Amino acid sequence: MDNPWRKDFPIFQHDKLVYLDSAATAQKPQAVIDAISQYYSEECGTVHRAVYPLSIEATEKYSAVREKVCQMIGAQDENEVIFTKGTTEGMNLLASTLGRALEKGDDIIISEMEHHANIIPWQEICRVTGARLKVIPVNDQGELALDQYHTLLSKKTKIVSVTHVSNVTGVINPVDKVTEYAHEVGAIVVVDGAQAVSHLQVDVNALDVDFYLFSGHKIYGPTGIGVLYGKKEHLENMPPYQSGGDMVEKVTFEETTFQSAPLKFEAGTPNIAGVIGLGSALDYLNSIDHSLLNKLEHSLFSHAMKTLDSVPGIQFFGPMQKSAPIISFRVDGVHPLDIGTLLGVKGISIRTGHLCAQPLIRRFGYDSVCRVSFGLYNTFQDVDLFVKGLLEALEILKGPV
Ligand SMILES: Cc1ncc(COP(=O)(O)O)c(C=O)c1O
Repeated sequence: MDNPWRKDFPIFQHDKLVYLDSAATAQKPQAVIDAISQYYSEECGTVHRAVYPLSIEATEKYSAVREKVCQMIGAQDENEVIFTKGTTEGMNLLASTLGRALEKGDDIIISEMEHHANIIPWQEICRVTGARLKVIPVNDQGELALDQYHTLLSKKTKIVSVTHVSNVTGVINPVDKVTEYAHEVGAIVVVDGAQAVSHLQVDVNALDVDFYLFSGHKIYGPTGIGVLYGKKEHLENMPPYQSGGDMVEKVTFEETTFQSAPLKFEAGTPNIAGVIGLGSALDYLNSIDHSLLNKLEHSLFSHAMKTLDSVPGIQFFGPMQKSAPIISFRVDGVHPLDIGTLLGVKGISIRTGHLCAQPLIRRFGYDSVCRVSFGLYNTFQDVDLFVKGLLEALEILKGPV
């Protein structure tokens, strides 16, 4: 299957790069690079504050991206879209603001498959408030144990925060059910969409989640920019996360009043170039036939699983059938870091280590795994070169395989 999009990514034009780490960060199309460069070289001005044309135009471009994000995720109002540095900052924002209202005896529920970004901020707020962190277990395939989730929920549950798609196994969680059960006990639902937005068409309104977060750099946009979606009714009642310029109405030495959301949560000069780059990434994704993209991801995943299956001593983590194109594995008797290093020398980029999900990797009985993940520029040739490289690495590490 020819890849119609690979040519749009300049990094693949100069290099024999086999890039299989898009779950960590995706490569950027020329259009995104150009949009950032154009802002800095021709359009650089601050937003919201000034009345001269450069600033007015920058503000218009910045606000237009908020509208694009709103449409992309099915939010009802663009004021429900807050720009952050990324998923991690969004989680810290929520833990510091929503979490501030928690008391001893309240519960926060997360799951065993969470990225550290959806564990530690809640752990910290529990330490400060005396709230308890409860964890939904996963089964041997890394899937959420929904029945056990049900037994953890109670009137004490104030927040449920789970990932939409696991960055280790590619498991897609039934976020609609998680939300429905949580709402039955009056809990707020936070969804980590960092791995979902590049593969699924997300509709926050249909899912009825209270908050949804993602990072621009995993959907072909720049680093340092992300999105926190929140239902208006929550955002209006939450205190600011950071304070300073741009987020205020009136400041005196005695008292300050704040803007309403989203500006209340965007203190200081924002990442204007990042927002513009994110907008360009969304335009790029909107120009793509998603059924074709899903077909490509599915066939890359199936081809990789089929080819890898014949590698002696390989063990996969996660279900064999799934939609998110992420594969984690180990090979008997070989440390993942050795595999990653030998492949890296050949120009093949895969991720190794605990994948910022130490509890899940430990649940599988290890402290480190290998992970390959696909983006819209990958090809069957990438998979074949990777498997060839893997077999050569194993031969060096283990002797003839
Ligand atoms: C599931 C998940 N959540 C959160 C994050 C954190 O994203 P960022 O580092 O962009 O803040 C990641 C990044 O790998 C992730 O995969």
